[in-house]
Amino acid sequence: MPDILVIHGPNLNLLGQREPGHYGADTLQDIEAEMAELARGHGVGLSSFQSNHEGEIVDRIHQTLRDGVDFIIINPGAYTHTSIAIRDAFLACRKPFIEVHLSNVHAREEFRRHSYLSDIAVGVISGLGKDSYLLALHAAIIRTQHSETPR
Ligand code: DQA
Repeated sequence: MPDILVIHGPNLNLLGQREPGHYGADTLQDIEAEMAELARGHGVGLSSFQSNHEGEIVDRIHQTLRDGVDFIIINPGAYTHTSIAIRDAFLACRKPFIEVHLSNVHAREEFRRHSYLSDIAVGVISGLGKDSYLLALHAAIIRTQHSETPR
């Protein structure tokens, strides 16, 4: 059974109350419940990790070298635009990942248009709210269940 890990970066623990105009009314728990249902229906394992700390996210990515995670979905939050350390962790661990954003980062401030991760991601989904995560999970399931699909 393939194992997929979802990583949520800083401030995403406040979803539901944080800037709902950008991020919607769903809480992280709401999003995770829908993802868990989808994963269950497809027989894939799903775990999640949220941290407000860059080093903890780096450590969690390193841990995937030992814990059998096959694929990562990450919303890096503001670290998208700043973190060479998270980029280097992905390069070091060579785990395929999809970058997701609830908001359309290209329709906001200029500084949100640059990502340190997009060019090394399998794909990027931005601007579809909760569906960004669900679509990423669909794609991750296809890629982990049919390993002949290019990653
Ligand atoms: C975000 C977009 C980032 O620019 C921002 O810093 C976030 C959330 C999103 O999901 O839209 O924290 O990643």
